[in-house]
Amino acid sequence: MIVSTNDLDLDAVRLRLALAGYAYVSGLPEGFDYPSALAELGPLMPQYGDVLVRDVKPDPAISNDVRSSANMAELTPHTEWYEFPGLPPRYVALWCVQPAAGDGGETTLADGHAMLDRFTADELAQLAAQSWRWRSRPTLAREGVRQVVHHPTIDIHQGQLVLRFSTLDLLGQDELARRYVATGSEHFEAAKISIKIAKGAILLWDNWRMMHARNAFSDPNRHLCRVLIGVAN
Ligand SMILES: [Fe+2]
Repeated sequence: MIVSTNDLDLDAVRLRLALAGYAYVSGLPEGFDYPSALAELGPLMPQYGDVLVRDVKPDPAISNDVRSSANMAELTPHTEWYEFPGLPPRYVALWCVQPAAGDGGETTLADGHAMLDRFTADELAQLAAQSWRWRSRPTLAREGVRQVVHHPTIDIHQGQLVLRFSTLDLLGQDELARRYVATGSEHFEAAKISIKIAKGAILLWDNWRMMHARNAFSDPNRHLCRVLIGVAN
């Protein structure tokens, strides 16, 4: 659903996040203070390089032959921050400085909790109990990020299901880990919605629930900004 507004109606955003797992808000004015508005949803989390707002735009030094948010290639389904210990951010927000001209550049989303219906109760228990190895994207090494952690794919935090997913960086080689990745990829392709974030618009999603990815594009001037929103202690 698209909500048009001159301000970020946080009650409407919370409702959309709870119902659909995402919210898309367009029509925000030039110069809108996104970080201040988003901080009402929870504490902004420092990202790579310790910044609160990360620029997502192509870096000519990163080949389109690798999977990286810093090029123009397709991104495969994942949740955010799987490569770090502890709770991943509850919400991810992307707003648009400059949309990609021409085709492509859409953010794609699918409900990852729905994917879990494809597993038996025993498998779900194992997904919650067994730790696998996760790594950061190798292209982040140029920014000094070289993470390896062990944790399960699903957690329960204060009664809420927390999903982690990556087609590339979940390094478990056993049958269940392979099936998890394959099932998640199939589910994503079948269920994904596609949103090209317009200038003056913001897309937020529940990162404990939704998997996301990106379609390839060809405009080197595409520029989004990303904020990660945690939970208050
Ligand atoms: Fe991402």
